[in-house]
Amino acid sequence: MTQKISIEPASGKLGILTPGMGAVATTLYAGVFAIRKGNTPPIGSVTQMGHIRLGKRTENRNPLIKEFVPLTDLNDIVFGGWDPYSDNAFEAASKAGVLNDKDLAEHKKELSAIKPMPAVFDKDWVTKLENTDNVKTAKTKWDYAEALREDMRNFKKTHNCSRLVMVWCASTEAYRPASAVHKTLQSFEAGLKSNDVAIAPSQIYAYAALKEGVPFANGAPNITCDTPAILELAAQNKVPVCGKDFKSGQTLMKTILAPGFKARMLGLSGWFSTNILGNRDGEVLDAPENFKSKEVSKLSVLETILQADAYPDLYKNLYHKVRINYYPPRGDNKESWDNIDIFGWMGYPMQIKVNFLCRDSILAAPIALDLALFMDLAKRAGKHGIQEWLSFYLKSPQVAEGLYPEHDLFIQQTKLKNTLRHWMGEELITHLGNEYYE
Ligand SMILES: NC(=O)c1ccc[n+]([C@@H]2O[C@H](COP(=O)([O-])OP(=O)(O)OC[C@H]3O[C@@H](n4cnc5c(N)ncnc54)[C@H](O)[C@@H]3O)[C@@H](O)[C@H]2O)c1
Repeated sequence: MTQKISIEPASGKLGILTPGMGAVATTLYAGVFAIRKGNTPPIGSVTQMGHIRLGKRTENRNPLIKEFVPLTDLNDIVFGGWDPYSDNAFEAASKAGVLNDKDLAEHKKELSAIKPMPAVFDKDWVTKLENTDNVKTAKTKWDYAEALREDMRNFKKTHNCSRLVMVWCASTEAYRPASAVHKTLQSFEAGLKSNDVAIAPSQIYAYAALKEGVPFANGAPNITCDTPAILELAAQNKVPVCGKDFKSGQTLMKTILAPGFKARMLGLSGWFSTNILGNRDGEVLDAPENFKSKEVSKLSVLETILQADAYPDLYKNLYHKVRINYYPPRGDNKESWDNIDIFGWMGYPMQIKVNFLCRDSILAAPIALDLALFMDLAKRAGKHGIQEWLSFYLKSPQVAEGLYPEHDLFIQQTKLKNTLRHWMGEELITHLGNEYYE
């Protein structure tokens, strides 16, 4: 048994702030309004629907997670956000085309009241977005960070929040690896003041959040928090961070299937994944530099699950390819195809086809909610820096330097639940079970 740690109660209101008020963010807001009204159960949300087994199987203790750990009640959430387009959340949700007219009409009043704060936006990082009309202007990146900090303080005051958390739901930025300016907090702050071109908008949001003591979760594949400078700030101000890239559709399937093949020692010679999607995310990803960010995030998954070095006969020659095709007629209703070439006993080949007709934002919204609630919990529990236990939700989990990320969904789930047990002073579950037979 471990010692229960002290966690501050979730009293007062929690402001969930989303840079980006597009498909995922507005689906998140509308879903929470629908749940509050009792129109739908919180499907897909582990914090709301998940149970956690405690103690031995014979004890029959299996509370809801939200009753086991002190999470913020959905009625105590206030939403806000930034976007370079001035559409309120109702207008943005209508354009995103995820929810039907009936659901939109039902929550029109609450959604219309969420108006985006002017964004820190730089077209250089998201070339496909044209005609933006809600963008901040300032002399330096430092001034932009200051403006975001002021937005957060004003939001907290106006909406009477006791705490804030930020979840990046904005477009995927161009792929540009970290550079010298990201090495230390000092060099990063100097770079903010000198308008260093290597500092992306998402990094300015993350910096501003951490300066305000606001936890930051990254739903896109940008390297936002994966730099020594941002981690130094997170440590200094004792704020949790996590990322990156919501694990919603095709990659979710990959991290369910691949661990199964590996568990059975089945070989893989090829995995070809292709998608069509027609939402704004798809349009942004149509630019090669932005697709590169996504590709890096999507490709890393199989490598670490399969461990080709340890299993060369099974995975050494795997050919893994991921394609994303922008195809407007489908809107947010992405379709993905996976052709998986596997081989078995005596090397005989077999094929598996997965055709997933998914709804991207329907899968991503509960992930954004859970990340917000768990990041707030982590902060109240005195945790800071990288929250690896939230890997479960992410395509490209951030981990401490020198570690490889854990991608297997079921190991990730065990890690998440054991973390909660550990914090609450409950025994960790190892599934050994000797005691039932001795
Ligand atoms: N939908 C999914 O299932 C899913 C899964 C994994 C990751 N993601 C990522 O989540 C993010 C959001 O996805 P989406 O489908 O909602 O996309 P979206 O294009 O509908 O919404 C993104 C919004 O961000 C805004 N934006 C762009 N730059 C901004 C900035 N600097 N500051 C504030 N707002 C900015 C855009 O105007 C847009 O309204 C994307 O990066 C996407 O790659 C989505």
